[in-house]
Amino acid sequence: MTVRDPPLSALAHIPGTDGWPLIGNTLRYLADPKGTAERFAKRYGPVHRTYSFGGRTVSLLGPDANEFVLQDHEKLFSSKHGWERVFALLFPGGLIMRDFDEHRVHRKALAVAFKPEPMRSYLESLNRGIGSAVAAWMNAPPNFRLYPAIKKMTLDLAAVSFLGDECGPDLDAIKQAYVDMIAACVGVVRRPIPGTQMRRGVKAREFMIRYLGSQVAARRANDGHDLFTHLCKTTTDDGALLTPQEVLDHMSFLMMAAHDTLASSLTSFVYFLSVNPDWQEKLREEVCALDLAEGEPLPYERLDDLPLTEMAFNESLRLIPPAPSILRRAVRDTEFGGFRIPQGAHIAVNALYTHHMPDVWPEPERFDPLRFTNEAIAARHKFAFIAFGGGARMCLGSRFAYMQAKCFAYHLLSAEAVSAPPNYKPGWKYWPIPLPRDGLRVKLAPLQ
Ligand code: HEM
Repeated sequence: MTVRDPPLSALAHIPGTDGWPLIGNTLRYLADPKGTAERFAKRYGPVHRTYSFGGRTVSLLGPDANEFVLQDHEKLFSSKHGWERVFALLFPGGLIMRDFDEHRVHRKALAVAFKPEPMRSYLESLNRGIGSAVAAWMNAPPNFRLYPAIKKMTLDLAAVSFLGDECGPDLDAIKQAYVDMIAACVGVVRRPIPGTQMRRGVKAREFMIRYLGSQVAARRANDGHDLFTHLCKTTTDDGALLTPQEVLDHMSFLMMAAHDTLASSLTSFVYFLSVNPDWQEKLREEVCALDLAEGEPLPYERLDDLPLTEMAFNESLRLIPPAPSILRRAVRDTEFGGFRIPQGAHIAVNALYTHHMPDVWPEPERFDPLRFTNEAIAARHKFAFIAFGGGARMCLGSRFAYMQAKCFAYHLLSAEAVSAPPNYKPGWKYWPIPLPRDGLRVKLAPLQ
């Protein structure tokens, strides 16, 4: 399906601004994405048009808009054409780049890798990797910064739990390939010209395709429990195996989807616990009440015994969502909030804005995990919290993310106390993914 950008005349009735020549509002969004969305919402209303990151986008703000776009009952919005500016060259066949019937078939095939049995074995790898990373942080030097350490940990975890222990000497090259591909997604130059980040990303993708491709047949013959082996064996509705190219495309995207989002969210989680010591203590009591022996892995059966940890993780995802915006493109003319939206229009819904709306979240800047009790969730709009998206494309790895966050909280809080300098408020850089500009200056101290 070819989708063309609508001319400005087809969008002119939607209030908004193109901003400065050429760069539009890009610098404003880079400097302060939340403040910019709030100012534009105030000036132009919850449906408005802006020009940024090389194109014109219609922003639809608030829970009703999130439901309209993400639930997409009428199949009006393409995810592939929404995200192609970001992912087309590097993750062309990932799940997010497939639409409608093709998406449904592939999502069902991939879902097999997230059933309880595989999840149980991923948790074994997570326990090993997180346990040893947290132990190593105990002897950290005084200038230690937590964000780079967490980023390294999540990349190691994605590599091992997704690819298994068999990568051996290739592991470092694989990890570097992911670093290059992810950096290329947001590189300023969007073509693979020699010397650019995009060129390094495209080369890294070629390496990964060669590497994973050389392994598909062997994985199909063995009985490994890593995600790659599951995908090599998974079948679609008609019983056909995914082709090697499809397996490789899905693997590439899954590793990217898992690694950076978790690095960002675990970092903000630790930050909020460090500046809310009462909640840190509550979570510590919860992990200690599991009554496991020192150093024992967190068992899969005990994940549901950590409800406060899940609530606190949700609250940090609310305050700092790793995917601040979700992108789509209209494949047919439609209408929302009294405005006609033409076919081809780029659409963005905004988690960062919605998660801070004071009429939905009273005192929105306050860290309060009690916003996520079952009663509070039931009383709220279903699309007020969209850290994991929603509808048929809701994050396929959300249960994996909760499992990793709980495993992390268990190992960290049962061994160490986290504290922050007085009145500590790191600046957060939101693009391409939220991270603390100073690397997160928290202190870890072994518990007495
Ligand atoms: C805190 C961590 C995570 C956050 C905040 C997050 C967020 C999201 C969001 C917002 C979407 C929806 C995008 C859209 O509608 O266009 C999404 C989709 C997706 N995520 Fe995650 N994600 C996380 C972790 C993971 C993990 C760990 C995995 C894999 C193990 C994963 C795999 C995926 C996949 C495959 C999709 C595409 C789903 C589809 O199109 O049907 N994510 N994620």
